Amino acid sequence: MVLFGRAVTGDLGANPVEELTHRSGDWALRFLLLTLAVTPARNLLRWSLLLRYRRMLGLFAFAYALTHFLIWLILGQSLMWPEIFRDLIGRPYVAVGMLAFVLLIPLAATSAAAMRRRLGATWKQLHRLVYLSAALGVVHFFWLTKADWSEPAAYAMVLAVLLVLRVRRQPARRETE
Ligand code: HEM
Repeated sequence: MVLFGRAVTGDLGANPVEELTHRSGDWALRFLLLTLAVTPARNLLRWSLLLRYRRMLGLFAFAYALTHFLIWLILGQSLMWPEIFRDLIGRPYVAVGMLAFVLLIPLAATSAAAMRRRLGATWKQLHRLVYLSAALGVVHFFWLTKADWSEPAAYAMVLAVLLVLRVRRQPARRETE
């Protein structure tokens, strides 16, 4: 919403498309990591209500990733298919971002409670793909960074902590969930 407001008021600097791409990518990654933080935070604080927000945060991550993708596709590549394929093949980090985004599609499509009930155990296995998508998002960010790796490194560290918490919790979780 803030990004949209800044776009409408022309407050996006000298290169608005680049600014929109960067800001939407940042938020996609932040919401992905926030989604992954819900279960460890619930376990730590013993506050089950937090789980209610996991789906919403995941859908925010998807919405930002979709916006990010559409900005690249429509504003960046002007829907020119030869350019799109050239960018996907010529800049591997774009292909990695694409894979991270594609992995989120089945997760968003099956996020509703009714789908969760219908898919049963398969749902949980499928939704573990969110870790792979976040990891690819971090690789994508590292790969496109030319200098000052501090920001992607900070995201990588957060993801590593979340992964460790998840793996350590695994046996106890099976007993309770
Ligand atoms: C889950 C999916 C994705 C995540 C989490 C993600 C995340 C990011 C992040 C964090 C940035 C850097 C922002 C900054 O510099 O502050 C970025 C930049 C970028 N992303 Fe993504 N991205 C995703 C998917 C995609 C897809 C599908 C495409 C295109 C097919 C794409 C193309 C780009 C481009 C072109 C840039 C700017 C690179 C540059 O400045 O040279 N990303 N993305």
